[in-house]
Amino acid sequence: MANEYIKAEGLVKDYILGTTVVHALRDVSFSIRQGEILFLMGPSGSGKTTFYNDEEITKLKPSALTKFRKERLSYVFQFYSLIPTLTAIENVQLMMGLVDIKGKELKQKSEEALRAVGLEERMNNFPSQLSGGERQRVAIARALAKDPEVIIFDEPTGQLDQEIGIKVVELVRDICKEKQKTVILVTHDQSVTHLADRVLHLHSGRINKEESVNNGK
Ligand SMILES: Nc1ncnc2c1ncn2[C@@H]1O[C@H](COP(=O)(O)OP(=O)(O)OP(=O)(O)O)[C@@H](O)[C@H]1O
Ligand SMILES: [Mg+2]
Repeated sequence: MANEYIKAEGLVKDYILGTTVVHALRDVSFSIRQGEILFLMGPSGSGKTTFYNDEEITKLKPSALTKFRKERLSYVFQFYSLIPTLTAIENVQLMMGLVDIKGKELKQKSEEALRAVGLEERMNNFPSQLSGGERQRVAIARALAKDPEVIIFDEPTGQLDQEIGIKVVELVRDICKEKQKTVILVTHDQSVTHLADRVLHLHSGRINKEESVNNGK
């Protein structure tokens, strides 16, 4: 099917801890269209983080996988991962340096990404001088700045209060729709599901429900 941009079939992941086996994913299949915003929901431990943490489930060679991750994929992690000794703009620039963006372009693109998330006045603040919502917006700017095709957000609102959390997810949706990014977003928060195009519900390592929300609009 032409509109299957990412497709996975029969994903299985077992974690082995001594003599215990944890079946984190049991036969998970899904596909996603280009530019689609897919939310992944489910209780703690249901396999959401494992779902995208896909080292062993791809057919790409390690070198091709590294290149794919570096150039075409960005992550916003479950816990803040800003470097505390670098300012907002330096955090963004560090990530862009990894894809060989330099000089004037580096400055321009990092400022543009921080403007897109409404942080033009806070670019030179250190993470400790930013609110939780602002830190999460820096992490979003950092993910956007290298212009990836796919962005994976793991609980981007997990550490924010609900009102700010909704604003952050609205921002993610607006920017990613405008820039036609394909998004996989993990969340526990029922109050943001109206912002998805589609929601997959994961339970004990299986998809047990799928809902269409905005039909890609
Ligand atoms: N490195 C690991 N070694 C062993 N077991 C693991 C490992 N990582 C995750 N697990 C187990 O696999 C299952 C799925 O974990 P995963 O991190 O994917 O859950 P999650 O849905 O992201 O949960 P949360 O909402 O709490 O982040 C859990 O039972 C967890 O204990
Ligand atoms: Mg998780």
